[in-house]
Amino acid sequence: MSTTATTVTPELQAYLAPLFWPEDRLLQELARDLAERGPQIQVSAEEGRLLGMLVTLSGARRVLEVGTLFGYSGVWMARAMGPAGHLDTVEFSPVHAEAARGWFDRAGLADRVTVHQGPALEVLPRLHAGYDLAFFDAAKSEYCDYLDHALRLVRPGGLILADNVFWGGRVAAGGGGDADVRGIRDYNARIATDPRLTSTVIPVGDGLSVSVVR
Ligand SMILES: C[S@@+](CC[C@H](N)C(=O)[O-])C[C@H]1O[C@@H](n2cnc3c(N)ncnc32)[C@H](O)[C@@H]1O
Repeated sequence: MSTTATTVTPELQAYLAPLFWPEDRLLQELARDLAERGPQIQVSAEEGRLLGMLVTLSGARRVLEVGTLFGYSGVWMARAMGPAGHLDTVEFSPVHAEAARGWFDRAGLADRVTVHQGPALEVLPRLHAGYDLAFFDAAKSEYCDYLDHALRLVRPGGLILADNVFWGGRVAAGGGGDADVRGIRDYNARIATDPRLTSTVIPVGDGLSVSVVR
């Protein structure tokens, strides 16, 4: 047992990555596409693997994602659900939504994924309850709004996840911060204290929050 955390050095990362979160050819090509024509703001392979495992562990059959980009995290989660599952993923950029549809098609997942193109706060009110898991990775200043929708959409016992809850450490820095910092601070405070949730944070990537809906 230990109360201190081991720092993940580049050497340790290089040892762990091929063992525990290898990318297959499709994920490598998708990441290369993002490097060539999109912003490289997708989750890491390490976080993709964890998202997939959380989908599997929760037995999710309906997953909601806010922030598709080109579909990198979506591929990890849709694959983890298997053919009986369905991913609804929301993306406001028409360019990103189109690229994602292409990648879900190439991954053989087109029939298991719906890309909803539009601003999240316009799309989310149109969705129906009964999701097993929701994952937020879009506008940080809107995370509390996404949470309000997810509390309607995700079933009791389901999971609500959010990426970037460390925001590069800026959530813990002094000062008022910009709209993104304030958005994530408000979100962290909400999930930590809302009696409808039990929450923690996993220090993977830029911080992944995990909340169980009671
Ligand atoms: C960090 S990227 C998502 C990465 C993706 N989850 C992955 O790991 O592959 C954020 C995406 O959210 C989209 N986005 C930002 N604000 C949005 C909004 N208000 N509604 C819907 N999508 C939004 C951006 O266009 C961008 O593609």
